[in-house]
Amino acid sequence: MQLTQKETELIKDLKTQEQVCVDKYAFYADSAKDPELKELFTQIKKDEEEHLNSLNQVLAGSVPDVPHNKESAAVTYHPKGHYSAMSNDEDKKHDQLLCTDSIANEKYVSGAYNDDLFQFASHKVRELLNHIQTEEQTHAEMIYQYKTANGMTA
Ligand SMILES: [Fe+2]
Ligand SMILES: [Fe+2]
Repeated sequence: MQLTQKETELIKDLKTQEQVCVDKYAFYADSAKDPELKELFTQIKKDEEEHLNSLNQVLAGSVPDVPHNKESAAVTYHPKGHYSAMSNDEDKKHDQLLCTDSIANEKYVSGAYNDDLFQFASHKVRELLNHIQTEEQTHAEMIYQYKTANGMTA
């Protein structure tokens, strides 16, 4: 498959964003105080690495197949919760900030996929970008679930 100049530029921009996501989740997994949040960020980071890998394949001319009818990871994610709803300690505030920032970033990246998808001629590329966008939404949903379980959404 041959990408146009414009399509190539769009994939490169998306790659830059995915690299930021990988780096950010590595940094946040390291920085989070609650082990359960560290684990969530580490898990999401693996998805971001896969996104980066998929985009590299597209640039190299082959579009990876997307899994069909795969259950969303948000359906099976049930965070135990570490912080009490009443607590207002520094660790909780710290972790809450990481969550809020991550959700904002996922929303931004998801929007970029949604916009860029409309520019591609290839059905397979559109399918892949749509799949990645759905996973970004899943990331945001899981982090939201974490916030809810930790009394961070009030
Ligand atoms: Fe991603
Ligand atoms: Fe993501």
